[in-house]
Amino acid sequence: MNNIGKDFIKSTHYNLLPPSDQAMSLPQPPLQTIPASAKEFITLPNPEIGEEDSKNFKELSDNRRSVRKYSNKPISLKELSYLLWCSQGVKKTVGNKATFRTVPSAGARHAIETYILINNVKGLEKGIYWYNALEHKISLVINSKDIADKITEACFSQEFVKQSAVTFIWIADIYRMAWRYVDRGFRYLFLDAGHICQNIYLAAESINCGVCAIAAYDDDEMNSLLELDDEKQFVIYLATAGKKIRKPHKEHKVI
Ligand SMILES: Cc1cc2nc3c(=O)[nH]c(=O)nc-3n(C[C@H](O)[C@H](O)[C@H](O)COP(=O)(O)O)c2cc1C
Repeated sequence: MNNIGKDFIKSTHYNLLPPSDQAMSLPQPPLQTIPASAKEFITLPNPEIGEEDSKNFKELSDNRRSVRKYSNKPISLKELSYLLWCSQGVKKTVGNKATFRTVPSAGARHAIETYILINNVKGLEKGIYWYNALEHKISLVINSKDIADKITEACFSQEFVKQSAVTFIWIADIYRMAWRYVDRGFRYLFLDAGHICQNIYLAAESINCGVCAIAAYDDDEMNSLLELDDEKQFVIYLATAGKKIRKPHKEHKVI
């Protein structure tokens, strides 16, 4: 083992940080990063899903587990809307300064973009969409036929990616966080991604969907498939989701 991880933690102690661009009065980057290919938008339905919402929290958290097998049944656009809302929904916007969302974020920077690989959502063409969180809309940004296979391969052939109804692909926008927190912001990007994914786990549980987090993937391949400039953005985390087949088994798989 080399010391890259330890060095990173040590060199991002608060007292070692240089003044941030924010402290030096440089302009704040935009609240979201719109991909060049996002042209036409689909407005998502209202994310309220009714009675299911009222499942008690203890039941949701007790039942939560990673699910890697999904039913062929599609999820509805409303359910997709609900999952996107619960993981990144914008509840309040403060001018062009900050957003407040369904998840916390360091300094309310919300420097994560959500892309979704759609495999089995009723009424939606397959492909990768970008979630416009500010307007609760989605836009198809990559529709090549083999995109699900390629994303699966980039996840070291974890086959449940292409069997999922939807796979969330979270992208870190480096400068949106670093503008305030310099290199310490990298820590916060990972923490923020964890909050987002946990909300997906619990929200999915409330609509009889299963989720599995994924952090085992080929970074270069994934960034290139998403057409990212990896100096500015990188894939930070993924999670598959789909309707559960039945009540989960007792045994636990550890990866
Ligand atoms: C950061 C992180 C990365 C993970 N990456 C993967 C992964 O690449 N593939 C996978 O099948 N499960 C992955 N998991 C799921 C874990 O294996 C799972 O959470 C763990 O075995 C505990 O099981 P439970 O979620 O059912 O409680 C990941 C979980 C976390 C939190």
